[in-house]
Amino acid sequence: MLNFNYSIPSKIFFGKDQINVLGDEVKKYASKVLLVYGGGSIKRTGLYDKVIEILNSNNIEFCELSGVEPNPRITSVKKGVELCKENNVGLVLAVGGGSSIDCAKVIAAAYYYDGDAWDIVKNPRKINKVLPVATILTLAATGSEMDTFAVITNMDANEKLGTGHPDMAPKFSILDPTYTMTVPKNQTAAGTADIMSHIFEEYFSNVKSAYVQDRMAEALLKTCVKYGTIAFEEPDNYEARANLMWASSLALNGLLGYGKNSSWCVHPMEHELSAYYDITHGVGLAILTPNWMKYILDDNTVDKFVEYGINVWGIDKNEDKYEIANLAIEKTREYFSSLEIPSRLSEVGIDEEKLELMAKKATRHGKIGSIRTLDTEDVLNILKASL
Ligand code: NZQ
Ligand code: ZN
Repeated sequence: MLNFNYSIPSKIFFGKDQINVLGDEVKKYASKVLLVYGGGSIKRTGLYDKVIEILNSNNIEFCELSGVEPNPRITSVKKGVELCKENNVGLVLAVGGGSSIDCAKVIAAAYYYDGDAWDIVKNPRKINKVLPVATILTLAATGSEMDTFAVITNMDANEKLGTGHPDMAPKFSILDPTYTMTVPKNQTAAGTADIMSHIFEEYFSNVKSAYVQDRMAEALLKTCVKYGTIAFEEPDNYEARANLMWASSLALNGLLGYGKNSSWCVHPMEHELSAYYDITHGVGLAILTPNWMKYILDDNTVDKFVEYGINVWGIDKNEDKYEIANLAIEKTREYFSSLEIPSRLSEVGIDEEKLELMAKKATRHGKIGSIRTLDTEDVLNILKASL
């Protein structure tokens, strides 16, 4: 296990009716907030009214940025910064999924940056100071509610880039699983695939001695496999929604990555797909993952796939190791299909045209991946296999 410094500062209020802490928690940081939300789901579910009622009864002033897109755009970030400056905002409160939260985080960082907000997405080292951020999560997927990252899209440049800063970690996040009961089936499936992919990116690392992290990763993967299916079939199942929600936060709050030197690879590939074709993040990941797994399976990686197959999928450990590995990959593919996620890029409108360009962009800073590094040609091969 490598050295690490543990710091997971976001305070979590988990469970039914935890929104009741909202007024007191906000007042610790600010008397005026910017409310950031998406295309209207929080209005349809009644959560918006509840938040407004709490802010009003606590004499907290607010202004609003609505309409944040899935794959949030830099244009929305810029609108949010203007609102913060015009209204003297002291905290940015995101109510929604990863897109609203990521937009809120970059608004909070860009508020203190003098140049173009896109600069701090391209270069996180330009972030010096960040307004406090808080979240009310409505979709279990990205882990943004408890991490220090944000992913923003610039459609003009066909770029979708991740940025981050320790102070972008939310000061607090309210995680009430009942808010996720209205998430439609396709987003429940995509969210589950996203959580699993965050775990895979850390799990398939070349650091072999992080035993505790790997067993935690397997527990979280099993949680996704079990409860992803239940939430997909029974949207109102509290146990399923609660377990998925907590798995989403734990998968990406740092816990699984400490002591490893993970370089992610399926995410950089997927971000190119969303940058050019604006597809749902989790869908892109679910299409690429089994093809990436198949591509990297070799004598150096097979033992890790065996661990995965036995510990997550319960495959008989007495089988031949390549059989176990291949079966584990097949089970992964079948699982995503059981959640009705498309399994080919062609099904989501992606053809051969931009594959080479996307492969080049995914590797523009060099090779990607941990357990097996991938160069441009490898990425292109995986994209082609996913068509
Ligand atoms: O916009 P509204 O109307 O709110 O509807 C959303 C949106 O259409 C809807 N939704 C959310 N909660 C709902 C709901 N519908 C009904 N009931 C609810 N309770 O779901 C749709 C998707 O929402 P979005 O926020 O886009 O989804 P998600 O949470 O999956 O976020 C995806 C974004 O996060 C980035 C992705 O790349 C993508 O841009 N990621 C952020 C990460 C991070 N910050 O660490 C890491 C991830 O790997 C990921 O890259
Ligand atoms: Zn993700």
